[in-house]
This record gives sequence, structure tokens and C-alpha cells, in this order.
Amino acid sequence: MLSIQTPEVQNSGRRFLPDAASPVETNPTEETNAPETKSPNQFLFPLTARVNSKDTLEIGGCDVTDLVQKFGSPLYILDEETLRAACRQYRQGFVRYYPGESQVLYASKAWNCLAVCAIAASEGLGIDICSGGELYTALQAGVDPGKIYLHGNNKSRSELQFAVESGCTIVVDNWLELKTLVGIQSEKPIRIMLRLTPGIECHTHDYIRTGHLDSKFGFDPNQMDELFAFISQQSTLACIGLHAHIGSQIFELQPHTDLGSVMVRWLSKASHYGLPVTELDVGGGLGICYNEADDPPSIDEWVKVVVASIVAACQEQQVPLPKLLCEPGRSLIGSACVTAYTIGSQKVVPNIRTYLAVDGGMSDNPRPITYQSICRAVVANRMSAPFTQTVTIAGKHCESGDILIKDIELPNAQPGDILTISATGAYNYSMSSNYNRIPRPAAVLVGAGEANLIIQRETYSDLIYQDCLPERLRHTEV
Ligand code: LLP
Repeated sequence: MLSIQTPEVQNSGRRFLPDAASPVETNPTEETNAPETKSPNQFLFPLTARVNSKDTLEIGGCDVTDLVQKFGSPLYILDEETLRAACRQYRQGFVRYYPGESQVLYASKAWNCLAVCAIAASEGLGIDICSGGELYTALQAGVDPGKIYLHGNNKSRSELQFAVESGCTIVVDNWLELKTLVGIQSEKPIRIMLRLTPGIECHTHDYIRTGHLDSKFGFDPNQMDELFAFISQQSTLACIGLHAHIGSQIFELQPHTDLGSVMVRWLSKASHYGLPVTELDVGGGLGICYNEADDPPSIDEWVKVVVASIVAACQEQQVPLPKLLCEPGRSLIGSACVTAYTIGSQKVVPNIRTYLAVDGGMSDNPRPITYQSICRAVVANRMSAPFTQTVTIAGKHCESGDILIKDIELPNAQPGDILTISATGAYNYSMSSNYNRIPRPAAVLVGAGEANLIIQRETYSDLIYQDCLPERLRHTEV
């Protein structure tokens, strides 16, 4: 149900906020009898986004312009309440709908850093990691290794060794890895899961589809018998579960329903080989809103469908309910963060386009240039001002394609105004770079009017920290 908005709200940045009942808001209570909670992935901005008496955007009780004053620009602003709400909605969904045991993992590739891992763990989530670096970070954040699951299609021997020594579970992707693991010493059998490619198509960007058979990830299900037979001979490996992930930024529920019955069939097969397989991990993939056209199901709806498909398939195939795992990334953290930039130069190409440049770009948000993602922004220091222009937001990189938003309606904006792009929590910081030797932004965690630095802004000296200048190149003069 959409609430009625005044024309003034419709034509200003306020329309994107949860309180203004943005066009993407639905009321789940009417259709699904689900609990009355706002699913963060159905909003463009964090749940705490408000406009204060100065007509300025506030997140987590903090004025965005004050945050920029204090911590600099560009700035990632992560709202703790929204992140925690999403964690709880996943967990509560499983408690509500699944009669068996469950575990939600945070797919930390979306944003892996100490504070985010610590928050996810404090909400009872485990962590999905896909490299030694992500494992190291999760361990340093104090995450229980028993709740860490290592992914990756080409894990090195040293990454595998590190994971085995830490006691985390390894999601095995291919034969080389399996055979490498057989050669690694361990006091206890190594806990592994097998990643299989389910052959399920879904509609999303080609780069983020993983469930179709022509994918670099996972074992081909045709190899299942050979695989199960091999593992059943290995006393050092305990194959405790099976895994699949069909892709990312998915709005349809049907592929997840299809996945349930495919995975339960695999489970039933594994039991014929006497393997101790009791866990099924259905991956992540639930989409979020980057713009008004995006219409993802709520977290609750997603969990309900996933659970229903597993329960139905288990009943049909007479298989005991497994421990059910899922590993969302984007839908946990994507909508919890915004990036604040300072507007700089403007270029008007008469009758064609007006470019407004900001002090960041493809290095802190590579999604528009990589996936042609369409995002939204507001002028944080003038939230109620009516839209007066259609502009294109350009980044500051030496690359014509460094455009963050093409043709967006904004109020008149001046150099120094704070442009704030929504839904930058997932795959922004984690995919950021130093292209053009631009230091990465700082990140702050906001909540109840307080802001804490969680990632320091990089400095110029950080940029050359790993550089080496051989002696013979020093002080050379022509
Ligand atoms: N599990 C596995 C094995 C994955 O590969 C992924 C994402 C996830 C879980 C979490 O999926 P999510 O819930 O976030 O959709 N950089 C791209 C997304 C790449 C996704 C990689 N794998 C983007 O910015 O859209």
C-alpha cells in the first residue's frame, strides 16, 4: 500500500525516505500476513533516514552534513539500525517458518571489515568468506570459526591450510581443492561442504548469475556419484553439507523454490553413500532497491519461500529436515549505507546535458560502470527543495565512463552541496580501488545520534605504503 504524498514531497528528495512512504514501499501485512516490519531491502534509504528541522538529511540521528564536516568527503555512512534489522528479519524468518535448525551467514564479500563482521556476529549470524583476507578479518573481529564458511573457486593451498587450522568449514568447489584438502594434516576430520551448480537460470546481470551450468563455480551435478564415492573413502574429510548459490540481485522467488527441490534430491543421494550430510546452504541472492523501478520481495517473503520449498521437498522425498543455511550479502547491508559526496564543477553542454561532478566516483562505487546499475541521490543539505534540473552525476576519474548517475532530477545544486547516493552498502567499499591514486573514503557507523569511525580515510602516504623505490632510481637526474 502506498501512502498519499503531497506534490511538494513528490518533487523533492524527501520522497525517497522510508517516512515519506517511497514509491517502492509495500505493506507486507496486507498480502502475506507477515510481521509488521519494514524490510530494509525494500527501501532506497536506510530505515532511520529523516529530514531534520534544518531541511537536512539525517541518518541514525546524525546530520549528514555535520558528518561530512567532521569526517570529510566522500564518506560512507552505515546505519547500524538498518543492518541489525535486516539480520534480525532473516533470523526471525527462519525461526518463524522452519521447524528444523537453521543458521544465517552474512556473505561478507558485500562488505568485509572488522566492524561489519562484529555486528553480524553479534546478531548471531555466521560469516561467509571467500579469501584468506576475509577469513583473517573475520577472525580478528572475533567471529567464532565454527560459524565461518570459506568459499572460492580457486582457493590456494595456503588459504585452505589457514582455514583448516582456524577450524572453519570449507565449501569445496572443485577436484583440485578436494585433493589438496586430502593432503592437508588435521587433528580432526576437516568439515567440508560441496558446492554444486544447480542448473537454474535467473534474471539478473550476466556477471552475477552463478546457478546456470556454464558457470565457473561449483561441481557439475553429473559428477555427483563420483564425488560422493570419492569422499566416502576419505577418513580425513567430513562432508557435512551441500551448497548452491544461483546469483545476486534477484527479484523472482521461483528460482529459489526450484532450488529447494534440486538440493533435497542431492541430499537424498548423499545419504546413499553414507556421508554425514546434514546441512543445506541455499546461498544468497535477494535483491534490493537501487531505484524506484526495483521491486524485490521482503526478507520475510524470501525466507518463507525458501523454507517452504525445502520442507515440501523433504516431505516428498522422505528425507529428514537438514540444518538449513543461507548466506545473503546485499540484502543485509546494501540499503544500510549511503555515500555522501561534495559537489564540485559543473559543465553545461547546451541542449544536451549538464554534468555535475563529485569528489569520488568509480573508485568508491564501481557498480554503475561495471553493471550499469542505476542509483538514486538527494542533495542532503536541501531535502525539500523542488527539483529544477535534470543532471548527470560524474565522478572525478580520468575515464569518460565514470558516471555515477545519468539524468537524475535534482534541485539547483551548487559547489559545496552534499550529494548523497543511496544503497551503497553492498559491493561498494569491498570493490573500491585506488584508481588515479585517489585515497579510499572513510566509513562511519551511525546510530542513536552517535557516529563512530569504522574505516579511516586513506592518506597519500597510505597510497605509497607498499611502493618500493630501488636505490638505483633514487635522486636520478638527467
Ligand atoms: N554466496 C555466494 C557463494 C556468493 O557468491 C554470493 C555473491 C553470495 C552468497 C551473496 O549474494 P547476495 O546476497 O549479495 O546477492 N559485485 C556484484 C555482486 C557479486 C556477487 C558475488 N557473490 C554486484 O555489485 O552486484
